[in-house]
Amino acid sequence: MEVPLDESLRGEMTRWEAAGLRRTLGTGERSERVDFASNDYLGLTRHPRIIESAQQALADHGVGGRASRLLGGGCILHEEAEEKCAEWLRAETALLFPSGYQANLGVIGALAGRGDAVFSDRKNHASLVDAARLSRARVYVHNHLDLQELECQLARAGSAARRLVVTEGVFSMDGDAPDLVRLNELCSTFDAWLIIDEAHSVGILGPQGSGVWEECAVEGENRLAARIVCAGKALGVSGAFVVGSDELRQHLIQRARSFLFTTAPSPAIAGALIAAIDACKDAEAERRAVCTKAKELAHRLDLTEPRGAIVPWIIGDAGKAIELSERLFDSGFEARAVRPPTVPDGASGLRLVVHCYNSEDEVDALARALSNTNVHVRTARQNVAEDIDRALFVAGTDTGIGKTVVSSLLLTAARRHGPAAYWKPVQTGEDSDSLSVRTLVNATNAEVLPPAWELPLPASPHAAAEDAGIILQSERLEEGLQGLLRTLIDTRLIVELAGGLLVPYHLDPVRMQADWLERAHAPLVLVARSELGTLNHTLLSLEALRARHLEPRALFLVGEPHASNRQTLDRIAHVPYIFEVPPFTPLDQSALEAWCQDHDLEALFRP
Ligand SMILES: Cc1ncc(COP(=O)(O)O)c(C=O)c1O
Repeated sequence: MEVPLDESLRGEMTRWEAAGLRRTLGTGERSERVDFASNDYLGLTRHPRIIESAQQALADHGVGGRASRLLGGGCILHEEAEEKCAEWLRAETALLFPSGYQANLGVIGALAGRGDAVFSDRKNHASLVDAARLSRARVYVHNHLDLQELECQLARAGSAARRLVVTEGVFSMDGDAPDLVRLNELCSTFDAWLIIDEAHSVGILGPQGSGVWEECAVEGENRLAARIVCAGKALGVSGAFVVGSDELRQHLIQRARSFLFTTAPSPAIAGALIAAIDACKDAEAERRAVCTKAKELAHRLDLTEPRGAIVPWIIGDAGKAIELSERLFDSGFEARAVRPPTVPDGASGLRLVVHCYNSEDEVDALARALSNTNVHVRTARQNVAEDIDRALFVAGTDTGIGKTVVSSLLLTAARRHGPAAYWKPVQTGEDSDSLSVRTLVNATNAEVLPPAWELPLPASPHAAAEDAGIILQSERLEEGLQGLLRTLIDTRLIVELAGGLLVPYHLDPVRMQADWLERAHAPLVLVARSELGTLNHTLLSLEALRARHLEPRALFLVGEPHASNRQTLDRIAHVPYIFEVPPFTPLDQSALEAWCQDHDLEALFRP
């Protein structure tokens, strides 16, 4: 029977609430608390000249944008603001969008499409993530600030028509910054173009607050395609400029859908922006105050020095982050908890933001309040992303294709370098893959972990669970994995999935194995059969993985070697490694050892 919409929404809300992830809207009014939360870094939201400029714009041009810019909306102030912004950032042109979110959707969508490749830092803002996804380009996600991984991905994407590397200037949650000189070099080497979202760097860094790009000394070829200046942060207004060449602006006017199909921002915004850019350029002392106090706060909390105003205090658990933010609120501080989906699972915490108007005493009081909390703090670099990198999932294009043999090979290779374990979270059917692995590699009890669920029916997990009268709760798998990674310190964990990649755990709501992989953002390898039919199955599985922003670290082709399949996949699968695993006769530990002797699997365990 159909569940009424509101009832199902209430059910979802209850689950969010239980996980400490429910959000509520405040009134938006400033609280009496000391502001360590807003993005009003320079206090410009209340700047008298900016307010006056907005009022004048309202009086001269009216309230509304009237229509999209292409259909006659906006006014002369929009162009004036754009020219001012371009001049400030020493670029040819700028184009004003109603918000940073729309600017990012617009610029990435206009520059990348099917056949192109977008390279995105794992910690990029949601607007950049969504933009990359919507563009239909192939998306490569690299670990945060991991330029080695980025380099490998760029090297693999040689056949893409256009390559865009997308980063934030200062990361909005972690407060750190990429090495732009190196990024520019990589773009130059691999014929890629750089897009920098300067939301949290403009106004804070660079000459006259013109951002991180202006601050760095790029040598050789300049590969910058666009910068995005989100005006709702240091500028204290709203909207966002995409800054770049004249050709870029013309292109955006033709192609950026989030510019084309939206009403022009109010003249009040454009008027405010004109004054805000002047005020921001002049705010040298305020900029210095923000950076000095942010560094002081980080130093007091024993955290890595931030690049700008953002000091992350990562706790891990969402509930604890909320509790701490509430406790601080009661002590007179406004410091917001950040939780999934803003940050990855297990990386919840407080995003502390320092402003020019926070006094030294206030910074001192906050540091003391936090030092007294007794909450175990993980630094940004110690977050769960690192834990998950000790896991390696083994997914398959189908059932019965050799995942267990590949898992045994991986366990054989992994245990040469230290502790390693195998886990089959969901076992269906009477045969036990855990037992096979155990026998094959002569593993100890500690090396083969018991499944979370053993279901006798040889069927898809959802059907086997139904048959056994239970519900497979995928959240329990997530918790189980996190628990194992936390307790098995320094252990590499090989996780074998059940059946093919898209088999469901349950149908209501639909949850597939691949959804779990996506949520965990887990490192994985894909196993396929070697013979006829594998091209279609393998390429479909790769599409399904890539639709979830997952890149396998390797493809294993199991069975009698097939020359043309291997060659075709070499050319079009774009995976870093393809291994062929022939039928072993006999299939025993020494055969696996011998295979591992000839094939270096070590790279598969490294992020
Ligand atoms: C890095 C980054 N980019 C883009 C945006 C979106 O900007 P806006 O709030 O103007 O839509 C934000 C804001 O949260 C951000 O932090």
